[in-house]
Amino acid sequence: MQTFTEFSVPAHVAIVMDGNGRWAKRRFMPRLTGHAQGVKALRRCVKACLERGVAVLTVFAFSSENWQRPEDEVSGLMGLLTSALGREVAQLGREGVQLHFVGERRGLSERICAGLDAAERETAHNSRLVLNICFNYGGRWDIAQAAARVAARGEPITEASLNAAMGLAHVADPDLLIRTGGEMRISNFLLWQLAYSELFFSPVLWPDFDEAALDEAFAAYGARERRFGKTSAQIQSAPPAQLPV
Ligand code: FPP
Repeated sequence: MQTFTEFSVPAHVAIVMDGNGRWAKRRFMPRLTGHAQGVKALRRCVKACLERGVAVLTVFAFSSENWQRPEDEVSGLMGLLTSALGREVAQLGREGVQLHFVGERRGLSERICAGLDAAERETAHNSRLVLNICFNYGGRWDIAQAAARVAARGEPITEASLNAAMGLAHVADPDLLIRTGGEMRISNFLLWQLAYSELFFSPVLWPDFDEAALDEAFAAYGARERRFGKTSAQIQSAPPAQLPV
């Protein structure tokens, strides 16, 4: 069996899967073909994360702003989500993947919402890999909806109360954010949760993102010094983390 000891594997990896449109355009194909290839790349990435022992994978599949795309692309992306659910959920369940859909349900059809709920229910008992699919999601929306929920309960707005009301409250913050496709921006993804994440920008277009590209990101991550606001000297003199007894 293959092992990945040469890499420092991040526990939580977040990905902006960018470049589907350009991948298709370069091949004189419709943008939706690029998105369909993007679904395949996501499937490959889930498998690679399972093999490498990643605990949480969070991907940006449809942003709050993506509604502004041409109508056929929006409906095509909805169709891809529905077909991917129908095809993949049972197998993902067998592989130990726990699915979460993070984002605003309002605006999505009843049929899609029912599919998302069923996929979450069917995989809730799994614990090998948590896969968060951010769909109709925006980082600003997430902060605003968390603040509204905390305020509606009449609780004080603190870092802890907001954190507990966020879409990703069920997992720790991402250790590594990967954005494919060469652009170097966050694009309203996980604005709250990326506070101390390491950022890695890959020129590879998402449909071409493979195990080697993932390992390159993990190798770069392994070479980073994470200081969380402390000094380098403090980090280097800290005792190694204690293993639980
Ligand atoms: C960005 O590429 C990608 C998206 C807006 C959609 C991401 C979706 C997938 C990877 C597949 C769908 C996944 C599910 C689960 C439905 P882009 O279109 O902005 O590419 P471009 O920058 O080259 O135009």
